[in-house]
Amino acid sequence: VSEFDLIIVGAGFYGATMAERAAAIGKRVLVLDRRPHIGGNAYSENEPETGIEVHRYGAHLFHTPNETIWNYLNRFTAFTNYRHRVYTSLKGQVYAMPINLGTICQFFRRQMTPDQARQLVAEQAAELAGRTPSNLEEKAISLIGRPLYEAFIRGYTAKQWQTDPRDLPEYIITRLPVRYNFDNRYFNDRFEGLPADGYTAIFKRMLSAPNISVALKTDFFEVRKRIPKSVPVVYTGPIDRFFDFAHGELGWRTIDFDTEVLSVGDFQGTAVMNYADENIPFTRILEFRHFNPERDYQTEKTVVVREYSRSATRLDEPYYPINTPSDKGKYMKYKEMAENEDNVFFGGRLGTYRYLDMHQAIGSALKSFESEIAPRLEAQHT
Ligand code: FAD
Ligand code: NA
Repeated sequence: VSEFDLIIVGAGFYGATMAERAAAIGKRVLVLDRRPHIGGNAYSENEPETGIEVHRYGAHLFHTPNETIWNYLNRFTAFTNYRHRVYTSLKGQVYAMPINLGTICQFFRRQMTPDQARQLVAEQAAELAGRTPSNLEEKAISLIGRPLYEAFIRGYTAKQWQTDPRDLPEYIITRLPVRYNFDNRYFNDRFEGLPADGYTAIFKRMLSAPNISVALKTDFFEVRKRIPKSVPVVYTGPIDRFFDFAHGELGWRTIDFDTEVLSVGDFQGTAVMNYADENIPFTRILEFRHFNPERDYQTEKTVVVREYSRSATRLDEPYYPINTPSDKGKYMKYKEMAENEDNVFFGGRLGTYRYLDMHQAIGSALKSFESEIAPRLEAQHT
């Protein structure tokens, strides 16, 4: 390993961006990942029976307001013009998400103007009469009123957290977007699309330089002793694991995916259907063919994935940071330890215990490369 200038732990968007940038200035880079594939959580593969691209760690929709990040990623992939939309099933009816004027008119069964809908929601949200919300349910009611909360938020949230929303802290939600028009595009960002030839192809190109080596099925902690202290390390694994859980484990939620190939051409007519009813155990169903309508998959079969949410144990894939006050306290201690590691740079969603969208992981890697990594690498040979 001493022939490398930089070692990167994790072949997700954060690690791949770092590797690509370091290789571009002529550095020799080794990327380790304990998984058998590159791409981190954005990894996708074609389901063998149908050829349909399936995102193995949950649906990944690329979107960004940032033109620099968009241009950077466009060097490694073309994007389709996919525009994400989400629907929700509730008591045998289907509504468009996020809650918009169409949802509101359909739910209250009458046509309303934007001002009428705004006024109705404001009246319903006044239920707390100025009292400070003391749990998630009260917070949600203060934002959108009880009827919309009970229909669209309560059951879904209870399933996501496996907890009654009255027992969840109010800080989990700061806003619940309601649109007073009929626009049901899910994202507001200027740039959006899916990679034309799939997510994994992006990573193959990002890591294709001859001065980048990739070692898969390789756990950093098993090879750590062989890495000279003088070689800088970018670490994108879990920060608590790096320090042997010295301050305890950070809390995460995970998702169980139940994947099925069905003998129907089209199961639900859209990519994502949420299930708001609490008695239905899954939170949503993904149907992957709908992410790539331009591909015109020649199959009368379809791939659907049901998602079940629960809190993660150490053996599960960590997906969403829970971020209780106790988690935040622990993270601050780990962060302090990380700052004292002179030649290890922590990044990415696991390394900083933060939910990051893909564009944010790429953006923060680009920033950290400029401010910390490039200067360190340039100092190596002077
Ligand atoms: P990761 O992709 O998690 O990569 C970290 C890598 O480090 C992993 O491959 C892991 O195996 C490796 N690693 C960890 N420990 C070790 C070790 N000890 N040794 C070697 N390797 C190790 N973002 C969007 O923009 N749009 C979406 O629609 C979207 N949907 C999502 C849905 C779900 C269910 C989840 C969980 C995330 C979603 N994201 C989405 C976020 C997206 O997955 C992240 O932005 C992205 O994964 C961050 O990249 P990363 O490199 O920080 O982490
Ligand atoms: Na450091």
